[in-house]
Amino acid sequence: MTNGRTTRRRPGTAVGIAGGSVDLGDDTLTQDIHEGMTRVEDLMREELKQSEDFLVDKVLHLAKAGGKRFRPMFALLAAQYGDKPKDISVIRAAVVVEVVHLATLYHDDVMDEAERRRGVESANLRWGNSVAILSGDILLAHASRLMSQLGVDTVLHFSETFGTLVTGQMRETIGAGEGDPVDHYMKVIAEKTGVLIASAGYLGALHAGAKPEHVKALQKFGWNIGMVFQIVDDIIDIFSDPKESGKTPGTDLREGVFTLPVLYALAEDSAVGEELRGLLTGPVEKDEDVERALGLLVQSQGRQRALADVHRYLAAAEEQLEALPDNSTTAALRHLAKYTISRVG
Ligand code: IPE
Ligand code: IPE
Ligand code: MG
Ligand code: MG
Repeated sequence: MTNGRTTRRRPGTAVGIAGGSVDLGDDTLTQDIHEGMTRVEDLMREELKQSEDFLVDKVLHLAKAGGKRFRPMFALLAAQYGDKPKDISVIRAAVVVEVVHLATLYHDDVMDEAERRRGVESANLRWGNSVAILSGDILLAHASRLMSQLGVDTVLHFSETFGTLVTGQMRETIGAGEGDPVDHYMKVIAEKTGVLIASAGYLGALHAGAKPEHVKALQKFGWNIGMVFQIVDDIIDIFSDPKESGKTPGTDLREGVFTLPVLYALAEDSAVGEELRGLLTGPVEKDEDVERALGLLVQSQGRQRALADVHRYLAAAEEQLEALPDNSTTAALRHLAKYTISRVG
């Protein structure tokens, strides 16, 4: 079944997401998602301009800098399972998810003392922490205003989503303590990243009027893709070229946040593991220590083992697609799933 659409494929039909593009595999669907994303972008900019001038340039700083717009795109794809995929509520829901995501990036960069984001200077580097925090807060105010137009159930859903996300950021900040560090890591990323991507699928499908079982499957698909997404992002933080990621490599190491590939490398019974255990005892301050640690991590099994987890979550995401109709949108979600790991090959 193709949802009444042809599955012709021509070169150049991919939907661009900054830093790459996803081939959704179907011309009509690609066109619909393109149009939807234009509406998302217009509504987001229109909303973010509704503030005093001295705030607008700060809140538009990261929105304009780029970003993959992965969450709103997924919300629009999820909306295809309903009978009103182009409803204004779908567009609003997609904008809410992206604006909340943006707000968390401003706050996260303060917490992580990050200097680059989306290929530009982070807001904290350019204007200082106070302005960056307040910019994140005003973004949350914008998201709340749009959310109020989506009804009380969405507000409740979002309060839970956002509460979980902040719990994850706090759990990461507090650290694993005596607990198992890999279990702790998995819990953190489910909370800080999984739930928001799950929410994009949930809200997109819900506001388009999709069936409850489809809404659920899209939410679970999003959760698993979120896990993939964050582990891939953490692999990139250690192993990639900054030109590609738009961020500074080793940021997590500098902050003493040891992500999955690092945790696996630290547990390794080898000379590399031994040296890393001596080096990574807290935040890594000196540039040469960061360089040395990055060099050791490349020699470790950390990347391989983290990638094995990525494939496990990817398979779990693909399993959720079985609960959805076999149509061009489901095929596109399969492409999207593959895209999330393409950044690490
Ligand atoms: C960054 O998210 C934070 C993570 C959850 C890894 P994205 O990788 O989606 O960031 P943008 O929106 O493309 O900048
Ligand atoms: C991203 O946290 C998750 C949230 C912003 C909630 P990270 O610190 O892992 O992401 P990057 O690497 O800065 O994008
Ligand atoms: Mg960060
Ligand atoms: Mg962080």
